[in-house]
Amino acid sequence: MSEERPVVTVQLMLRACQGLKLYPAQHPSLQKQIAEWHRCLQQMLLVRPEVVLGVHQRTLFCNDFLFVDGFPSAESLRALFESWGIGRMVIRRGVQPVELADFLVLLTGGRGHCELLAVRMQQAGIRHLEVGPEDEQEASGRARRIYEQAISVTESIINDVRIGKIPQTGAAIDAVRAMVETTLAEPHALLALTLIKDYDDYTFRHSVNVSVIALAVGRACGLDEAALRVLGLGALLHDLGKLKIDIGIINKPGQLTSEEFERIQQHPEEGVRILQRMEAIPGEAIQMALGHHLRYDRQGYPRAAARMNLPETVHMVAIADAYDAMTTLRPYQQPMTPRKAVERMLEVRGSIYHPELLARFAEHVGPYPVGSLVRLTSSEVGLVTEAGMGKTDGVSLKILFDAAGHRLRQPEKRDLATAELDCIVADVDPASRGILIADYLD
Ligand SMILES: [Fe+2]
Repeated sequence: MSEERPVVTVQLMLRACQGLKLYPAQHPSLQKQIAEWHRCLQQMLLVRPEVVLGVHQRTLFCNDFLFVDGFPSAESLRALFESWGIGRMVIRRGVQPVELADFLVLLTGGRGHCELLAVRMQQAGIRHLEVGPEDEQEASGRARRIYEQAISVTESIINDVRIGKIPQTGAAIDAVRAMVETTLAEPHALLALTLIKDYDDYTFRHSVNVSVIALAVGRACGLDEAALRVLGLGALLHDLGKLKIDIGIINKPGQLTSEEFERIQQHPEEGVRILQRMEAIPGEAIQMALGHHLRYDRQGYPRAAARMNLPETVHMVAIADAYDAMTTLRPYQQPMTPRKAVERMLEVRGSIYHPELLARFAEHVGPYPVGSLVRLTSSEVGLVTEAGMGKTDGVSLKILFDAAGHRLRQPEKRDLATAELDCIVADVDPASRGILIADYLD
């Protein structure tokens, strides 16, 4: 019996959310739905001072009841909560139907960081409802699980291609869906993970990283969720054709012979051939594989694709591919800091990279992108853990070295408000401080 009311309240809340797509908040049908939801909440508030709804480890809960499976309404509500990064929503005694209606208008009327929603709720005079983010540790743990899941899906796809098998698509679609949801709800944690540069499994990581970074580019450019899913999938699978090229040529550090270079240039078309044989790969994702080495000025390869009318997402993948490659240590290349990589790319916008898309990405990640190591005017050195990407109130850091240059045993969390940002004076090469960024990402 105890689960009945949580189930009903979630159903009534979702029904009112859906009603808002059809009617304005003042419409009698909607008012009726909200009154019903309000009545249900009142019953629950008779026995406890507050009703708590939230998301825990990707599962919706209401008070002590977990919506484990078989509740479609819970799934829709979870997705809605996650689109705002809401971990907990508290409804207190005294709540009025008008507050519920105003809240639902805000909740369904956009997406962003949950702090933004909290500010809007305050402005709207909503006093008996509160929203808060998921516990930070939990959010970064969730991002890591999703990222690792994507790595393992990619590994199995790559292994299939290597042995000449046609890979299954379902797991990749699911992994990308989870990455899209996280990119919308909590973009910092996922982007930070792309800076784990484990040399041993570069091939898998690079594919996943390009997907994550492409999603950040796509989000910066205002793509909706459905378009992001196509972009994420295309980016994840964009380089499969490389597996058909002799590994000796791919990893050759010196100058390639013209025959070797010609062979490398065939990998986008090899990739197209693989993707065409896989199930349910959208045509646009195949175009991403075809065009990811074409420059904005239509130089690059394959030459046959230069005359084609390709979608803008192709340029987004090219930007993501370059950003990840530039920030990665490889046998023949020192990695650049995220800031340096963006700067370098901006220098060649309009020739190599699509100028507007790149500018939006650069603006989106901010002057010190997540994962940058920075020096402050105090001489302390910190790692940027949150910046840009919807965060409008400054940056969050983990201070790793004190003013005297000693490494702290326990990194110290610090938030810099927008007005304090000029205390960041430079970005620091992690290698010069013996830092492995990955050690500090949890
Ligand atoms: Fe490639």
